[in-house]
Amino acid sequence: GLPTSVTIYEVGPRDGLQNEKTIVPVEVKAEFVARLLSAGLPVVEATSFVHPKWVPQLADAAELIPMLGSGGRACPVLVPNERGLDRALELGMERIAIFGSATETFAQKNLNRSLDGQLEMFEPTVARALEAGMDVRAYVSMCFGDPWEGAVPVEQVVTVGKRLLDLGASQLSLGDTIGVATPGHVTALLEAFGDAGIGCDRLAMHFHDTYGQALANTYSALRSGVTTYDASAGGLGGCPYAKSATGNLATEDLVWMLDGLGIDHGVDLGAVVETSVWMAGELGRPSPSAVVRALGGA
Ligand code: HMG
Ligand code: MG
Repeated sequence: GLPTSVTIYEVGPRDGLQNEKTIVPVEVKAEFVARLLSAGLPVVEATSFVHPKWVPQLADAAELIPMLGSGGRACPVLVPNERGLDRALELGMERIAIFGSATETFAQKNLNRSLDGQLEMFEPTVARALEAGMDVRAYVSMCFGDPWEGAVPVEQVVTVGKRLLDLGASQLSLGDTIGVATPGHVTALLEAFGDAGIGCDRLAMHFHDTYGQALANTYSALRSGVTTYDASAGGLGGCPYAKSATGNLATEDLVWMLDGLGIDHGVDLGAVVETSVWMAGELGRPSPSAVVRALGGA
């Protein structure tokens, strides 16, 4: 059967805004995060401590965090290396997420490292984060297909994913960075992880909706037993270093489906829709989410 409850891991302020051409003012970002938290989202990834030249949209991370009040320190933030970790520690952050690639090409494009080189960069970063009492999540990107390398073998994803978990990460988020996954591929990948001794309790799914398959893929992962799903309010998002990456699975689309299935999530759908309509106004373009369009009166 399906799980009775799931955790929605909100990535709109990070994965969403990192890919917007408009640089959103820091006050607007702070309000975005606050509204998402008060809509009942249990986890809101707030920003990234990456090189500001690589992702100028999130260069204001150190300004944003103090604006979030005491709750801000519990928001996870992306950290690629020890320099990013130092910046996060200075602000008292409690949770970080490292982000590796399943493919050689994307490791190079996104992190300026080889596949092995990215792990050498993460190793001391995670060790120090754990020593400081932080929780560490790990993403693995290009789990289904890569724009430069094509289809990615499931064994390759399991090997990289296992190496990331072995560093000491508490959860591995499987990223369909460019949205090419289909439901049967999702089942096959989760089975391969299971065969390697990594159960659904340690996994999260991170779908992008480029080909309109994100909800079908989510349903497939629910049937396999995964209970954490990354989503982005209004379907904002993409990845600046992955050609053809568009928005994440919209939080509203996910919530609508979970409600229909009777699966608990604790999120106030109306409040998220209102937030996305407001953010669409700030960005000057309508939300790509079907549910936001249906309920948002826009
Ligand atoms: P690099 O150029 O190799 O960096 O970039 P470096 O280690 O050679 O250092 C060069 C300089 O940058 C040094 O300064 C460092 O201090 C500084 P200098 O000594 O020359 O004055 N530096 C930093 N400054 C601030 N913060 C830092 C930092 N690190 C170094 N953290 C690096 C390597 C990893 C930094 C770079 O490639 C980078 O920042 N990449 C981030 C790319 C990114 O954020 N991509 C989007 C997120 S991933 C994603 O969206 C996928 C996901 O959603 C899942 C999915 O969909 O699959 C998570
Ligand atoms: Mg992503």
